[in-house]
Amino acid sequence: MLIKDYFNEGETVALEIKGLSSRNRTILVSDEDIQHFRSQLVTPDNVNSDVLNRVICMDMLDGTGLVPDASVDLLILDPPYNLDKQFADYKFKSMTNHDYAQWFESWFLPMLRTLKQTATIYVCGDWRSSMAIQSVLEKHVVVRNRITWEREKGRGSLHNWKNASEDIWFATVSDDYFFDPSAVKLKRKVMAPYRNEAGMPKDWTTDEEAGTGYRLTHPSNLWTDLTVPFWSMAENTMHPTQKPEKLIAKLILASSEFGDVVFDPFLGSGTTAVTAKKLGRSFFAIEREEEFAVVALKRLQIAEQQTAIQGYEDGVFWERNTNAERKGAKKTAVPQELE
Ligand SMILES: C[S@@+](CC[C@H](N)C(=O)[O-])C[C@H]1O[C@@H](n2cnc3c(N)ncnc32)[C@H](O)[C@@H]1O
Repeated sequence: MLIKDYFNEGETVALEIKGLSSRNRTILVSDEDIQHFRSQLVTPDNVNSDVLNRVICMDMLDGTGLVPDASVDLLILDPPYNLDKQFADYKFKSMTNHDYAQWFESWFLPMLRTLKQTATIYVCGDWRSSMAIQSVLEKHVVVRNRITWEREKGRGSLHNWKNASEDIWFATVSDDYFFDPSAVKLKRKVMAPYRNEAGMPKDWTTDEEAGTGYRLTHPSNLWTDLTVPFWSMAENTMHPTQKPEKLIAKLILASSEFGDVVFDPFLGSGTTAVTAKKLGRSFFAIEREEEFAVVALKRLQIAEQQTAIQGYEDGVFWERNTNAERKGAKKTAVPQELE
């Protein structure tokens, strides 16, 4: 079956992919892409002193050596979780909590030198990895909160609860840090539309075009408004554990300012770098597997023209399944539940 390669907008580069629906918007990498983007990577054979806004294709410990001291405002860590998982040519093997904590600490400590005194750190993990992550963070930085993200998608089990949530630990280097909750407000449909004595909406606003009421709510540490990327979303890639741009956008907007520097040493498909670029931040980015590093470069190229972040419009995050209500929202072929 032929599907459209969304890399070139307006230009139909057809790729032969078996078994993918014509509505599948997954960003694919062709042999030509690999040839094209490979030369743009920073590799051990091609080390360049200026690695800001580049993708470093190396082991993260070597790549971290290229990041200057005290240059990073926001560190986003999405390492392999403590699970058996194949990442391109490399398989991460699950280990005891103690060994996972040791492994985490072995690379986390060398990274601390790259952080400013005012920097923030977010670390993603599942319930099992979380125990080790918390113990290491508490030894070296100030742990401030744990966000739980209801990611929904997960494999059901006959013998256990379906694993449908992930944690994002929030920590800072010191007590002097930037945090802007007003940048990450959530726009929710009003369930109980109370009015005051004059008949005016109380703590909510009507959206005339949408014909509905909404409330801008303060961001909490429980996130239910985002899903993992699906095949019908323009940001989707073949990476096995890709994070949604909307999730990374919340971290970046709450904990960095325009022009700040974000560092992701486990870049995967490039989500942090792409979202940082869309939001006017710079980045340091490392991914060991060339296949993923090339996807990241391709997404960065797409982001030069396509700056939208699904679920984030007009400076607010929208709760899921509100596509029809959004002002000026176009009817799309994307089913609501896949937003
Ligand atoms: C959980 S994934 C990150 C996914 C990413 N947040 C995204 O949205 O696509 C972890 C990534 O770290 C990479 N990785 C694992 N060990 C690494 C290492 N030692 N150095 C650099 N990258 C590594 C894996 O190849 C994988 O792509």
